[in-house]
Amino acid sequence: MAGLGIRNLAKRYGDFHAVRDVSLDIADGEFLVLLGPSGCGKTTTLRMVAGFIEPSAGHVMLGGSDVTLLPPWKRNAGMVFQSYALFPHMTVAQNVAFGLEMRKLPKADIGQRVEEALALVRLAGYGGRLPRQLSGGQQQRVALARALAIRPDVLLLDEPLSNLDAKLRQEVRVEIRELQRKLGLTTVMVTHDQEEALTMADRLVVMNEGTVCQVGSQRDLYERPASRFVAGFVGRSTFLAGTVQAPGRFRTDGGLAFACAGGTPGRAVLALRPERVEIAAAPLDGLDNRLPGTVDFVSYLGSLIDIHVRLSPEDRLVVQIANREGGLSPEVGQPVHVGWAASAGQVFNE
Ligand SMILES: Nc1ncnc2c1ncn2[C@@H]1O[C@H](COP(=O)(O)OP(=O)(O)OP(=O)(O)O)[C@@H](O)[C@H]1O
Ligand SMILES: [Mg+2]
Repeated sequence: MAGLGIRNLAKRYGDFHAVRDVSLDIADGEFLVLLGPSGCGKTTTLRMVAGFIEPSAGHVMLGGSDVTLLPPWKRNAGMVFQSYALFPHMTVAQNVAFGLEMRKLPKADIGQRVEEALALVRLAGYGGRLPRQLSGGQQQRVALARALAIRPDVLLLDEPLSNLDAKLRQEVRVEIRELQRKLGLTTVMVTHDQEEALTMADRLVVMNEGTVCQVGSQRDLYERPASRFVAGFVGRSTFLAGTVQAPGRFRTDGGLAFACAGGTPGRAVLALRPERVEIAAAPLDGLDNRLPGTVDFVSYLGSLIDIHVRLSPEDRLVVQIANREGGLSPEVGQPVHVGWAASAGQVFNE
């Protein structure tokens, strides 16, 4: 087993910077998730670590040695590609054996490792089938077995659950995490699904436009987002545009004034988490900020209800409440009162 070091890694295509100066340390046995919008450089980063893309600058360190110049089959990294990339004309067993043959293992060892890897992903007995004779979830697991068969020091997973339905996704999520723990594998997984990221990661990296925006635990990113981008990408936020008039005083462009935590005077946005705002039919008390509004839109999510509340012609915020017996059952057009603690609003100066 080994830790992974990414040092000032960059990739340019002509004058386009797909990845700029990314540095990360992944501890031995850690499960790190790279999260970010489409096109932000996640796959490019992972493929540089695996050796499928040559970096324009920077280094990849595996278990303390610099592997930047080694071809993929000489670095002990198992990769599951974004689209599984199974060879369609090869059987499941031949697919799983591929990395072992590249590494020129003796035939007998290959057979045994293939059996082992298929058993790990609960596909023992499927070796003779072709990929098209398997379901999407089974193909996904073959791709995982192929990566595990080489007994990698690091496992690199690029959207490994992207083609599964919601229910299967949840099951395979747990399977991957259990397997990773059991084998103590240092793992980097890419996803743009934030729920997947939050449930699976030991630590998360949020990327945007080729750079790392923030690294931290689920709680760090959710409670203390470093930028407006992270506040909007990890969890949900309502953003109210306006100005910080004095530290602790915010005024929206729609003319609402209330208390906020800190901020430097000037243009800013205030981010509010939907579950940190209280809502009631009658005026609220005991909160720093209390405002009247009107229900604009209601989304019924089952256990939760999202209520969009209009506070002024220009200001609207989302409030999320638990769907409790005897709780508020909001109707569009209904007058309501909302309130929140000054500390619940995150100010990002522009
Ligand atoms: N061979 C290439 N030539 C030119 N540009 C490329 C090439 N490969 C990738 N890019 C660009 O680099 C950027 C990053 O691509 P990458 O595949 O790493 O994104 P991603 O974060 O994995 O996105 P997604 O979530 O959609 O998979 C994109 O804008 C992409 O168009
Ligand atoms: Mg990708």
